[in-house]
Amino acid sequence: MLMKILVINGPNLARLDIRDSSIYGDLNYGELKNHIEIAATSHGFEADVRQSDDESIIIGWLHEAADNQTPVIINPAAFTHYSYAIRDAAELVNSPLIEVHLSNPMSREEFRHTSVISGVAHGTIAGFGPNSYVLAIIALKALIG
Ligand code: DQA
Repeated sequence: MLMKILVINGPNLARLDIRDSSIYGDLNYGELKNHIEIAATSHGFEADVRQSDDESIIIGWLHEAADNQTPVIINPAAFTHYSYAIRDAAELVNSPLIEVHLSNPMSREEFRHTSVISGVAHGTIAGFGPNSYVLAIIALKALIG
């Protein structure tokens, strides 16, 4: 049986079809989800890929991962930069939790240079488009086999 991982995507990521493709790439959300699921399977994981625009829903999913000891890959999107509530929930996850971003927030506007999540993440992978998630899957594999 494949090990489950939870992949959480934050606000506006379901609308990649209408976001700036020069920043976020050409995949729509459905294609991104497929890309993640296929990469997960090929590395021996079953990815449960979810998206929400709602902070409290994301917090609930992190509680679920904490309770079930599920490894997490999270792109908190704009919540990255200011949600202490998501940070506190991410801190409850004892299995590895990896922060990912499609773009490289450090090369963008100043407000994106702060991540309140990074301090409680095992590590952060940013700037590789959909492959940020693939690299996170490889990192998870190395961490937990
Ligand atoms: C993002 C970067 C964030 O700054 C932004 O708010 C997003 C997406 C990324 O994946 O590059 O919505 O997390």
